[in-house]
Amino acid sequence: MIQTLQQVSTIAEMRAIVAEAKRQGKKVGIVPTMGYLHQGHLSLVAEAKKTCDLVVMSIFVNPLQFGPNEDFERYPRDLERDRQLAQEGGVDVLFTPSVSEMYPQPIMTTVSVANVSAPLCGKSRPGHFDGVSTVVMKLLQIVQPDFAYFGQKDAQQVAVVTQMVQDLSVPVEIIPCPIVREADGLAMSSRNVYLSAEEREQALVLSRSLQQAQTWIREKALPARIRDGVIAMISEMPLASIDYVEILHYPQLTPVDELESGQTVIVALAVRFGHTRLIDNVIVTV
Ligand code: PAF
Repeated sequence: MIQTLQQVSTIAEMRAIVAEAKRQGKKVGIVPTMGYLHQGHLSLVAEAKKTCDLVVMSIFVNPLQFGPNEDFERYPRDLERDRQLAQEGGVDVLFTPSVSEMYPQPIMTTVSVANVSAPLCGKSRPGHFDGVSTVVMKLLQIVQPDFAYFGQKDAQQVAVVTQMVQDLSVPVEIIPCPIVREADGLAMSSRNVYLSAEEREQALVLSRSLQQAQTWIREKALPARIRDGVIAMISEMPLASIDYVEILHYPQLTPVDELESGQTVIVALAVRFGHTRLIDNVIVTV
């Protein structure tokens, strides 16, 4: 049965819907997104529907998390298509605030999570995670969900948001959900639409190299060797330009010198193909 999707764009409307749901004792979940939905987002909705009576999806391309030379203006947007997919996926409420609704005046208060925000994308995209933590905190304040669902493709984002809600005693449970991949292994991302056919073909090296890294981790190879091996595989692709390849403890995101049984580590990478920057990772318990 396809249920009707309610779309609201103001904070007041969103709060009123949640207040009524809570009055009825309903569990509320949020799936925060920037839209241009794909199966990765819909897998978060499916997970939310297992536990929550009211599933809210936010679609908001958050200017705070884009650097001055990044793709905020050209980030893909298609609200009509998103609305259709959200409805088919079983979202109850689509929250689509404008930039002026979220930031009616220049923002003076931001949330900054130390340490976990620093390496990986935090290093290559200064300020990015302050923008993410601030908008996620705002969404949590507006929707006041019991559960919030995030994809592990953005594993550092999951670590940052989890740390933030712990540190600030936000009464929400963060639920990390597995990466969803295309049949050929490419991790689903709204930015995949930017790739030319040739770039997309070469980008398959990312999941291939991470799979190989997983094997090396199981063999307890030296982290530095694993990193070099992944870099060597990616460097064979002429269109690839590596931003970073790192092996770190997860979720602490601190350096790993040697692999020890029982440790959980992440192999995380960011690689550009033309103008498109893709990220991917594997998280392995040794
Ligand atoms: O992962 C995303 O799409 C964004 O970073 C998020 C969590 C919606 C915050 O803008």
